[in-house]
Amino acid sequence: MVTQDQVKVWDPLVRALHWTLVGAFLAAFATGDEWLGVHVLAGYTVLGVVSARLVWGVVGTRHARFGDFVRGPRTVRDYLRDVLRGRARRYLGHNPAGGAMIVALLVGLTLTGVSGLLAYGASELAGPFAGTFRDPWWAKPLESVHEVLANLTLILAGVHVAGVLASSLLHRENLVRAMVTGTKARGIGS
Ligand code: HEM
Repeated sequence: MVTQDQVKVWDPLVRALHWTLVGAFLAAFATGDEWLGVHVLAGYTVLGVVSARLVWGVVGTRHARFGDFVRGPRTVRDYLRDVLRGRARRYLGHNPAGGAMIVALLVGLTLTGVSGLLAYGASELAGPFAGTFRDPWWAKPLESVHEVLANLTLILAGVHVAGVLASSLLHRENLVRAMVTGTKARGIGS
């Protein structure tokens, strides 16, 4: 139940997609090519979540829309400078640095997923790119590219979680809980 001093920020779809993404990304990372069936399923789930999130970023609720949180580099830089000075303002939706990180994560996840499908096509002759690579030579380099992109995306995810924790401390509010319940204290911010 949302009380008078709380405001709904994250709709159920944003929350469901986020936690499904966390589970699927970690499952894909943990399984690698050791457990290919699960790895491929988790990878498809990541790509499905990212696709749904891209659509929801255009037609979704107020704070889910890209227009609400994707800001130019100057705004992101000014926000980070304010963070360092300990006077960053609070945002109800994603702050400018968080918004930039979300774009980076969505790009990283997409590139990782697509490179995974390409590697899968070349090495297993399966998936949407099953018939694309006639020469098996392609398997190794594509697997390497996929691995590098997955590692970079994991680093982004680590920085993302660090940013969430830092912002939670700075504004004394539990952002992780807000991503579970969907609500935040009304307070100041927009
Ligand atoms: C246990 C680990 C994680 C925690 C606690 C966490 C927490 C959060 C929180 C609190 C937000 C909202 C930030 C805000 O208030 O502005 C958020 C957003 C987001 N996180 Fe995470 N996150 C985790 C892992 C990940 C991972 C692994 C990924 C992807 C690889 C990811 C991708 C995203 C994306 C794309 C958003 C934007 C949500 C949206 O607007 O749809 N997160 N996360």
